[in-house]
Parts: sequence; C-alpha cells; structure tokens
Amino acid sequence: MERENFGSKIGAVLAAAGSAVGLGNVWRFPIETGQNGGAAFIIIYVICILLLGLPIMISEFLVGRYTHANTAGAFRIVSNGSPWKWVGRMGIFTGWFILCYYVVVGAWTMHYTFLSVTNAFHEVPAKEYGDIFDNFVAHPWLPTVWLFVFIGVIHYVITRGVQSGIEKSAKLMMPTLFLITIFLAVCSVSLPGASKGLEFLLKPDWSKVDSTTVLDAMGQAFYSLSLAMGCLCTYASYFDKKTPLAKSAVNVSIIDTLIAIMAGFIIFPSVFNIGMDPNEMGVGAGLTFVSLPNVFQQALGNGSFLAVVFSSLFYFLLFVAALTSAISLHEVATAYVTEEFDMTRKKGAALVTATVLILGTMCSLSFGPLSGLTLFDRSIFSLFDDFSGRILLPLGGMLISIFAGWVLDRKLYRDELSNQGDLKTPYFKMLVFSLRYIAPLAIGLVFLDQLGAFGFLK
Ligand code: PFF
Repeated sequence: MERENFGSKIGAVLAAAGSAVGLGNVWRFPIETGQNGGAAFIIIYVICILLLGLPIMISEFLVGRYTHANTAGAFRIVSNGSPWKWVGRMGIFTGWFILCYYVVVGAWTMHYTFLSVTNAFHEVPAKEYGDIFDNFVAHPWLPTVWLFVFIGVIHYVITRGVQSGIEKSAKLMMPTLFLITIFLAVCSVSLPGASKGLEFLLKPDWSKVDSTTVLDAMGQAFYSLSLAMGCLCTYASYFDKKTPLAKSAVNVSIIDTLIAIMAGFIIFPSVFNIGMDPNEMGVGAGLTFVSLPNVFQQALGNGSFLAVVFSSLFYFLLFVAALTSAISLHEVATAYVTEEFDMTRKKGAALVTATVLILGTMCSLSFGPLSGLTLFDRSIFSLFDDFSGRILLPLGGMLISIFAGWVLDRKLYRDELSNQGDLKTPYFKMLVFSLRYIAPLAIGLVFLDQLGAFGFLK
C-alpha cells in the first residue's frame, strides 16, 4: 500500500505542535507555574525541555522518519528483532489508553463552549458553578452525546488521510488556536489589576523551588510534549527525508511552551482582577470547568456580551487544543492496525474508533451511572488517567532514552539526524550524553516520584 507523507515542512511541524499543545498547556502548566515560583519554574521547565524533552523528541522523530512505519513496525525495524521492539508496542498501547480518557474531557470542552455561546452562565451565583459541572458529568446521557460528537470529528479527520485530514486540519486549527490565545491574553491583560496576575505568574520566587518542583517540571514537560506515546514517532513517519529533525523538534517545543505561558496570561490577570486566590482554584477539571467560568463572568460582567465572547472563545480554544492532540493519539493506533494487520485506512480507523467509543463511554459514565465501579480504589476514568500518566509514560520515556542512547546504531543516528550529511550537528555529543545518562536517570526519578517514593519530601 502506498504510504502518504505530509506535504510540507510547516504542515509537519504544525501537526506535531497540534499533538503537543493540548489540555496540559491550559489546565496544568499555568497553575503549576504560579504555585511553584513563577519564572523560576519556567526556567526549570525550559531546562527540562532542553536536557530531556528535546533529545527524546528528536529520537522519536528519528526512529519514525528512518523507518517510515507505524510505531510498532518502526521499533521492530530499528531493534533488529531484539526485545526492544516492545517499546514501540508499549507506546501504542499508552497512546490508545490516554485517548480513551482524553476524549471524555474533549467532550466536556464542547459542552462548555455550547453553554458559553448560549449565555447559560448568566447570573449563576458563584457557588453554583460546582453543581453545574457535577450535574453535567453525572448526567446519564448528555456527556455521552458530546463524547460521540467529539470522537466523530476525530474519526472524520483521520479517515480523510494524512495530508487532507491531519495536515490540512492542523494548518487550519493551529493558527486559529494561536490567534484566539493572543486575543484572550490581550483582553485579560488589559483588565484592571492584571499586573498582580502577571506578577504571580512571572516573578521568580526561588524559595518555592525544591526537589519536588523539579520532578513536577519534568513530568509536565514530558506530558506536554507528547513524548513516549508513539505520537511523534508516528507523525515523523510521514516526514520526508529533507525535514530537519532537530529544528522541527525545537520549533514544536517553542510553540508548545509559548502557548502554555500565554494560557497563564489568559487565566491569572482575570483571577486577580476579581480578587480570587489562585491557590484555591484547583487544577485540571476543577480549575477549568468550575473556577474559570465563574472568574470570566465576574471579571467581564455577568452575562455581558464580552463575557459571552471571552468564555466561548476560551472553551473553543480548549476544544481545538484537545482535538488536535486526540487526533494524534488516534493516528498512532490507526497507523498500527492498518499497517500491521494489513487493513484499509477506513477499516483500521473504524476499529480504533469503535474501541475508543466503548472505553471512552465507560470512562465518561464513571462520573455518573458507573461511579460505583472501582478498581484499586479508583473510578474507571482515574484508572486510565493514573495508569497511563504515572506508570506507562515515564516507563516508556526511560526505555526510549536508553534505547536511543545505548542500543541504536550511532552511525545510523548521526546520518539520519544530519539528513545524510546535509546538515551540521554540532550538538550531537551532548545529545547522546543526555540520552545515555541524564534522561534515563531523571525520568527514573520522575517514575519513582509518581509511584509515591518521595512522598516524604512533600
Ligand atoms: N500533549 C498533550 C497535552 O499537553 O495536553 C497531551 C497529549 C497528547 C499527550 C498526545 C500525549 C499525546 F500523545
């Protein structure tokens, strides 16, 4: 079967950036930064990206582009039949597992866009935002309807193929996302009292930095860049031989970090404008679907036109961010089943979509009718979230860095990185050093931390 490539370098970078820019940029990065020493955290985060993120991203790109195969096929080829081939399969499993719960939140962003557009938050008292959210997620069928719509959109893009589906949608959605982010940040920053919010986000406070801050920054960098889930490897398998791997990885990281910081520019000025304490806003879903709708209404005038526009654009932004990431996760699994089991793209995508519909629905219902169903003391949703984020991700990242640093043929690495000698690679030694020593050690620590080994430090 003829294999498609991305049609342009910019399309390739935008697609990979679409994978990286997701919910993590908006609902975790800003609040972590604010609470962990502002610019001090950003500096540590950037160091993590330079030392661990980039080397691993470049390696994933390299394996994908060299083999032009899905992640399982790719690792099978580069591992020469050794057990390292399992790293690829594990990446696919992790990506698919994440997708099953990620789509649930993607569906919520659609519902909240709808609520915002229809001005449903008009004159809702502050304390009722929690109830609105709780009632929605526990509703017996409404979240499932949105879930089916969200997965339907992903399925549509995937079945259109690499160029007319993934690349075209990324070229449309990423600039849109960028423009909305800038617009919202400018609006928020011009509110009275905004400077306090910017200070909270940006003023370096090294006294708040300790060893757990560094571990948090590493974990966040990892998740945010979409590492170790087969996404980057799969997308790179559609890069052409001239795409500069290191430069593309740098561009993706810059876009991802900029959007994350700008999300802070959207959130904190409004929060400080209404005199709310950012430490009491929670993270993740609590922040996004309970605190922020209230903040936006109060800061911009309850039910006002501006509040409607701002809030609608904010949830639409989240929707686009979640969608491009979810598409990349779906593609990992679709490429795998189509190529390994010799199916048409349509059939492969349908198979993946069917499994995600079933498991995604179960994750979604675990906030309502299935809330009684628990395993290891966790709801189905938390189980998917924790197992993939805390165990599969760091483990996969560690294995990829060890593989790239110690096992993968050095000449092959260098030739591929330099596009067969066309590009200079003065950073090569540093890259290998990081892959061999820094990355496995650092990710090993994150892994132990996720398992609770450093609980005593907190
Ligand atoms: N990087 C995305 C985010 O920051 O939300 C999440 C994600 C997408 C993780 C795709 C992994 C992935 F493969």
